[in-house]
Amino acid sequence: MFGLISDCHLEEVKYYFSKRNTRKHCEKIATLPVIPEGVKTLLIGGDLCEARDTELLEKTLGYFSNECENVIYIDGNHEFWKEDITKVKAKIQNVVDKFDNVHYLNNNWIEIDGVKIFGTNGWCDYGKDGGVISELNNIYTTMKVPADCRKIKDLSATGTGCKLSAYKVISLNKKAKLAVADFVKEEGKKIILTHFAPFDKAVYDKLGLFNRNFFDVRFDTIGLDINDFKDISTDELIFAHGHVHCENGYNVDGFDVYLNPRGTFFEDMDEYKVLTFSFKS
Ligand SMILES: [Fe+2]
Ligand SMILES: [Fe+2]
Repeated sequence: MFGLISDCHLEEVKYYFSKRNTRKHCEKIATLPVIPEGVKTLLIGGDLCEARDTELLEKTLGYFSNECENVIYIDGNHEFWKEDITKVKAKIQNVVDKFDNVHYLNNNWIEIDGVKIFGTNGWCDYGKDGGVISELNNIYTTMKVPADCRKIKDLSATGTGCKLSAYKVISLNKKAKLAVADFVKEEGKKIILTHFAPFDKAVYDKLGLFNRNFFDVRFDTIGLDINDFKDISTDELIFAHGHVHCENGYNVDGFDVYLNPRGTFFEDMDEYKVLTFSFKS
């Protein structure tokens, strides 16, 4: 059985812990979920915590490493916040290397008990429908990236004030899409774990729930094409993702898509549990 968690946003806890009236709330959200019996492999769909707090990252991954046989971890956009995007992956890898059973995936896959698990942040399809180009002609500049990525630095960038550029987001998204296309050629049972939502449909369908009408779908979705998966049995491929802070799961053209965010401090949060799932057969 697989377990899924994402978007714990643990970095938020310490920002608010000092405020007396929020102490109780903080304690609640800082508590990591109990791993249900039968979960052998835990998937973490990113936005676990900001990677600049390596101590917190190590403590958290250490907990899951102790509790589960295997832990699959991918980063989300928040792992990169207030950091140089070119340095974060190495920083995370250093922490991950301390635990034999924690696997940090970046556009690659690992096979566990006969199931191939692919992991990628995926980033968002910001360039969709020529979005960047049209916005450049209006009020946007190359520095304007999706709000969720605006706190990320890119010290390798020129002409953008060392801020992550829209073009970089688009190129990371393209790279992820190519890696997914390669992965789906693999035979057998597969899981695609992403941080951003795999399909536009996921975001459109959920928009109403959270009254997020001011959000543009391009900012939250990798923009995979469901038609690229039509030759695969819906019993053999499962999607899991984070980023979109909506609960549970849904179905896209017969494929199960799971999500299980804890959410951010400002959202209503009940007790946080690991979501479990298995292949149908
Ligand atoms: Fe998140
Ligand atoms: Fe996110």
